[in-house]
Amino acid sequence: MTKFPEGFLWGGAVAAHQFEGGWQADGKGVSIADVMTAGSNEQVRKITNGILPGENYPNHEAIDFYGHYREDVKLFSELGLKCFRTSIAWTRIFPNGDEDEPNEAGLKFYDDLFDELLKYNIEPVITLSHFEMPYHLVTEYGGWRNRKMIDFFVKFADVCFKRYQHKVKYWMTFNEINNQTGLNEWALFTNSGVQVQSDEDAEKVMYQAAHYEAVASALAVQIGHSINPDFQIGCMLAMGPTYPATSAPADVMKAERSMQAGYWLADVQCKGRYPKWLQRYFDRRQFDLDMPLSDLDVLQAGKVDYIGFSYYASHVIKAAEDEPADFMTPTHNLEVPNPALHRSDWGWEIDPVGLRYALNWFSERYDLPLFIVENGLGAFDQVTDEGQIHDDYRIGYLRQHIEQMALAVDVDGVDLMGYTPWGFIDLVSAGTGQMDKRYGLIYVDKNDAGEGTLARGKKDSFDWFHKVIASNGADLS
Ligand code: BG6
Repeated sequence: MTKFPEGFLWGGAVAAHQFEGGWQADGKGVSIADVMTAGSNEQVRKITNGILPGENYPNHEAIDFYGHYREDVKLFSELGLKCFRTSIAWTRIFPNGDEDEPNEAGLKFYDDLFDELLKYNIEPVITLSHFEMPYHLVTEYGGWRNRKMIDFFVKFADVCFKRYQHKVKYWMTFNEINNQTGLNEWALFTNSGVQVQSDEDAEKVMYQAAHYEAVASALAVQIGHSINPDFQIGCMLAMGPTYPATSAPADVMKAERSMQAGYWLADVQCKGRYPKWLQRYFDRRQFDLDMPLSDLDVLQAGKVDYIGFSYYASHVIKAAEDEPADFMTPTHNLEVPNPALHRSDWGWEIDPVGLRYALNWFSERYDLPLFIVENGLGAFDQVTDEGQIHDDYRIGYLRQHIEQMALAVDVDGVDLMGYTPWGFIDLVSAGTGQMDKRYGLIYVDKNDAGEGTLARGKKDSFDWFHKVIASNGADLS
């Protein structure tokens, strides 16, 4: 018997820049994803100064969904999807980000895409900014370190909400807005278009950029609700719970700190306020952030309707010998492996129970509906001579996570809206820029060198997930 409510949103998730291609089609501008080269697990992606000759930019073509969307959506309907999560490429709508008028051809592409989805009764679930913004806003304004970004984003959101108000009900503002809290160079750029200079305090820059994004998100929530009160507008957080390495209280406190450092944006977006410990931290560090009281009112008035989150892995942390009593960012510099878990080919710790833990953690703190909008296994796939892909490892991963979801819903009473496995059609990895880090249930013939026919094919996991959806999660065999 199914543990999932009627109308549960089984789906699949992607992001515009990782699968659309068509990077210059119909007036699209250059986005921050367009200046990121291919990398690997060992070699981080380079962020180049504009588009440079001789570099490999995998997002430019990606899997060319832009040119294949009708046949792809048909395939999604064969899979049985109830919903489809993607993002709107900001640069299709406002190529530079600071224009007065939107680009009609870009708006029309998403009109056509949403019509195609609705034709098959697939509900669009839309992220406004998924690791993407016009590159011009970086070069001219410094990205989200600049308050002007709030107006640019709100305008973009307003145009999308108005245009698609009768086609899209489920929205999210910023993808994994909390990724940047780890102060990683890549995450600061993909989240905020921010590049920290050597004489700057990265922490201060991050807190300022994230604050402007939170304000922009809260304004978008208010505007969206005024355009269509039925809109469900969520935040989107990267969730990977941190466990203490031992039962030593110092380790437990360190793990708690790591969670605070990673998830304060959930308080800001769901409760509409900064947590007290962080207010104290801002005072102590004398950051002098641009955070007028009027912003705090906006945050309070623009709380989200639900929490969308990604879940891939958990983490373990150990306190330092001389762990300071003071709070510090980042905290994950003392991560250690979890001996209880296996790792993916890319070293991500596989922890299905951690998903149930995460669902409980969010549910207890925020008492909001939850939506798992990303989960999946990045793995190498082998194509047999008969052209098949027997990805039982991926089926096993998804099955174990869905089993934990079922427990969270049935036993723990978590209000879960849906589940959209990440990259259910192979796409470009955000972290490494690879094609061969595959998450898909649908194979796309293209490799890391950019070679391939772009032909689509069904992996074994395709039929398996079809059965899961058709049985509303009752049949996981
Ligand atoms: C999430 C992102 O961080 O994880 C996606 O929202 C990303 O954009 C996904 O693709 C998986 O990460 P990666 O690095 O394997 O692509």
